[in-house]
Amino acid sequence: MHIGSQVFEVSAFEKAFQKLPELVKTLRDQGHTVSRLDIGGGFPIQYSDESLLDLKAYAEWVRDIIVPLETEIIMEPGRFLVGNAGGLLTRVISVKETDEIDFLITDGAMNDLIRPTLYDAFHEIEAVKSPATSKTYSVTGPVCESGDMFGHDRSLPDMTAGDLCLIKSAGAYGFCMASNYNSRVLPAEILVYGEKYQLIRPRQTLEDIINVEKVPEWVENL
Ligand SMILES: Cc1ncc(COP(=O)(O)O)c(C=O)c1O
Repeated sequence: MHIGSQVFEVSAFEKAFQKLPELVKTLRDQGHTVSRLDIGGGFPIQYSDESLLDLKAYAEWVRDIIVPLETEIIMEPGRFLVGNAGGLLTRVISVKETDEIDFLITDGAMNDLIRPTLYDAFHEIEAVKSPATSKTYSVTGPVCESGDMFGHDRSLPDMTAGDLCLIKSAGAYGFCMASNYNSRVLPAEILVYGEKYQLIRPRQTLEDIINVEKVPEWVENL
C-alpha cells in the first residue's frame, strides 16, 4: 500500500490502513498466504515551512491495525530518512542581469536535481558566504532549456562568479534521478559527518560516459 508522497494529513493513513484487514482476510480465505505487508512511504519532509506528520498517531495505527494481521511489515520512508540530509553544492558560473530579473547561473543543472524542473518542486537555496546585501535572483543551471531552473525570486547575498550556492533537501529524488542529459557528468558525492567528510563517489568523467558506448562494426565500415 502506498497512498502518495508528502502526505500531510495523518488520518489519510488510518483510512488506508483500515482497508488492509479485510483485504488480508479475503486473500487468506481464498487460500493465499499473506506473509508480508508493505505499507509504503509518504511521510513529508520540510522543503520550506511545511508541518511534519504526527508520527505517534501513525505508529499507533500500525500497532492497532497492522500488527494484529501477523505479517512481516515493510515500510518505505526513504525521503523522510534522507531528504534533508543531502544538499547539491553548486558554484556560480555567472550572473546575468536584465531589466526584470537577475539570473544566477550555477554549474549545477536540471540533470543533477530534476525536481524543480519536473514538477515545480520547491528547494531552499542558500549562499555559502554570509549574507551582506540582499538581492533577488532566479537561480538556474547552464543547460539550454527554459526548464533548467532551481528557483525564482530567491533572496541571496550579492553573488559573483565563483561563489558557492547550496540547493537544500536534495538527499531524496536527487542523485537517484540524475542523468547524463546534455552529456553532463554526474556530480561527486561527499559524505559529511560533523567535522569529518569523505569523497564516497568521484565525479564522473566524460570518458566514463563515452567508454560504455559501442559503435557497431557495420557503422565503422560505412
Ligand atoms: C510504492 C512507493 N513506495 C514508496 C514511495 C516513496 O514515497 P516517499 O518518498 O514520499 O516516502 C513511492 C513514491 O511515490 C512509491 O511509489
